[in-house]
Amino acid sequence: TQIPISIEKDCSTITPPYDSLIEKLGRVRNHLKRPLSLAEKILYSHVVDPDQAFSSGGKIRGESYLQLRPERVAMQDASAHLQFMSAGLAQSAVPASIHCDHLIQAVEGAESDLKRSIVTNQEVFDFLQSAAAKYGLEFWRPGSGIIHQIVLENYAAPGMLMLGTDSHTPNAGGLGMLAIGVGGADAVDAMTATPWELKAPKVIGVHLTGKMGGWTTPKDLILHLAGKLTVRGGTGSILEYFGPGVASQSCTGLATIANMGAEVGATTSTFPYSARMRDYLIATGRAPVAKAADRAAAQGFLSPDEGIEYDQLIEIDLSKVEPTINGPFTPDLSTPVSKFGEFIKSQGWKDEFSAGLIGSCTNSSYEDMTAVADLAKQAKAAGLTTKVPFLCTPGSEQVRATIERDNVTSALEDVGAVVLANACGPCIGQWKRDDKQGEENAILTSFNRNFKSRNDGNKLTMNFLASPTIVTAMAFSGKLSFNPMTDSISLPSGESFKFQPPHGRDLPTDGFTPGNGEFYPIRNPAPQPEVNIVIKPDSQRLEILEPFGSHFGPGSGNPRGLELPSMKVLLRVRGKCTTDHISAAGPWLKYKGHLTNISENLRDTQAINDEGGEMNVAFDKDTNSQGTIPEIAKRFKARNQPWAIIVDDNYGEGSAREHAALQPSFSIVRCGMIIARSFARIHETNLKNSVLRLFADKADTPHAWGDVETGNGAEIKLQSLSQRINVNKSDGDSFQLSI
Ligand code: F3S
Repeated sequence: TQIPISIEKDCSTITPPYDSLIEKLGRVRNHLKRPLSLAEKILYSHVVDPDQAFSSGGKIRGESYLQLRPERVAMQDASAHLQFMSAGLAQSAVPASIHCDHLIQAVEGAESDLKRSIVTNQEVFDFLQSAAAKYGLEFWRPGSGIIHQIVLENYAAPGMLMLGTDSHTPNAGGLGMLAIGVGGADAVDAMTATPWELKAPKVIGVHLTGKMGGWTTPKDLILHLAGKLTVRGGTGSILEYFGPGVASQSCTGLATIANMGAEVGATTSTFPYSARMRDYLIATGRAPVAKAADRAAAQGFLSPDEGIEYDQLIEIDLSKVEPTINGPFTPDLSTPVSKFGEFIKSQGWKDEFSAGLIGSCTNSSYEDMTAVADLAKQAKAAGLTTKVPFLCTPGSEQVRATIERDNVTSALEDVGAVVLANACGPCIGQWKRDDKQGEENAILTSFNRNFKSRNDGNKLTMNFLASPTIVTAMAFSGKLSFNPMTDSISLPSGESFKFQPPHGRDLPTDGFTPGNGEFYPIRNPAPQPEVNIVIKPDSQRLEILEPFGSHFGPGSGNPRGLELPSMKVLLRVRGKCTTDHISAAGPWLKYKGHLTNISENLRDTQAINDEGGEMNVAFDKDTNSQGTIPEIAKRFKARNQPWAIIVDDNYGEGSAREHAALQPSFSIVRCGMIIARSFARIHETNLKNSVLRLFADKADTPHAWGDVETGNGAEIKLQSLSQRINVNKSDGDSFQLSI
């Protein structure tokens, strides 16, 4: 079939160097002599020196550290940029783009919200624009869209390896590549041509059979899988989907699945190259990439080998996956829509919700939007409007302009939708929602994350995650127990109305329209060294980064020099401790370029002290007093007392926010340690650059040490700074921790 093309793109820097990747892969095969998964093919062909890395053969997955050369970097906000500037280079070693999506506050609608946000963030946007011009980076200005949707539309390509400074970077895996979320320091490795190190992930195979039907969407597949795997089931692994069920999914549907691989802790997710991916590449003006990918696929580069053995295999029959709702407060609490009413009742929650939100980087494709417009048209024909505020965030200017042209936007507005700017908005706490502050309420969103306070800053708002079509249909009922597949809505006429299953189209019949050309950057810009980057000395938004100094040795504040000191337990954290718990987003995001100012948000930390069960409370046993966690930590610092925080599994889950690692080191410690049962990957890497972190084996779970040894104020004695550390407990027993 003829695929309508919106606009041809210059593909010179977005086509992976397939010939050299395939040549390298041949060298990898000579050493490993076994079938390879798709994830391994992509990853290992980007290793700097395969002959050196794989010469001894053996088990690579889960054991070897790889030195990699990513092909591209995508960045948000100022933090990675400030770190790149300190490298003193004239330009980035790899093509890179910068995006301004996090700082647009949602208040009343796209136009006025964007105008106001540009004024309030002007200094930061000017900084990003001038830095992009100086170093030759593509600058996507505010309002152009959400980083992950822009990457999918413009830069992603099958077989590519890319880094992005956001945990949902894996979204680009929808085009059969490896896109990995990292902190700013790792992005700077790629931009300075420093080999980027990654422990070779394990590979979890997800075998998709059967066919989705009716109301089930790709979002439901990943919500269902999150329930199976839990928030840490993918840690240290790549999710590799395969089987006949892959080919039937649209590229943007696959991107939704890959996007939320972050919610199970996966390093990234990927899929074998498919005809639907080819169609999407062509429809978004990248026919030369599709052609090159076709050739690479013919040589076996873009699919797994026959006979591959995965580290774990999950079987999913798509015909059995039901529409699903996950939450609240954790993305892995999964309930099929058919049982959701019972679940709400069993919890004693009110059978109502206060807003429905669709869009975001997870679910704002043309297919998603045309499917929800189908429901809106059905409802309008029955004389219905939404019962609750209904907000829609398009993922990019291209999506916004195309759905406007195709009367999708008007169909949504007809039933009461408010269209927000092409930006993150409510997905990242940039939702100015005064009417529900301090009130327990529920919202339904098609977003990807639902930790406390994530959307409106109110820790009592329960965010339930669902597909955009489920959110939309339920918005016409306003009840959490409403099952659009079986239930009807009563009309004033006395009749009842029941939705028909929605239908969307993945590619527009008339092609995508790019929309406002001012939102698009100059492609492949040359660096302009003469550009002056201005950071005012009294700026409250931007600050040059200075080195922190060491935790051990001169200037560390550690009285015992290079020896490991004995540490006092500052607190033992109860339950989940995500990067949002440590470093709150919302109003604090505006300080992402100013480490001193953003560090003040530690006073809002949501960590719960296991002793007493209160949020943001720590005890100073020396003075028999209590205070907030940062207050007591600062007292420890003033006394030169090194501290340790004991945490549970998956510490630092969620956002890639490297401030959650930088801030404690910068503002309250010179010598501190996090001891966890396990760490989330991105946060662990970020911690390496600041606070020392230790990992306790499963057998030595921190919370199994007993109240005395890990309670507030307990003393932990560490014997040596090596790969394994003996910890002497006060009862004379000891156990080991690994760095
Ligand atoms: Fe933006 Fe991240 Fe949401 S990129 S749309 S905040 S998941």
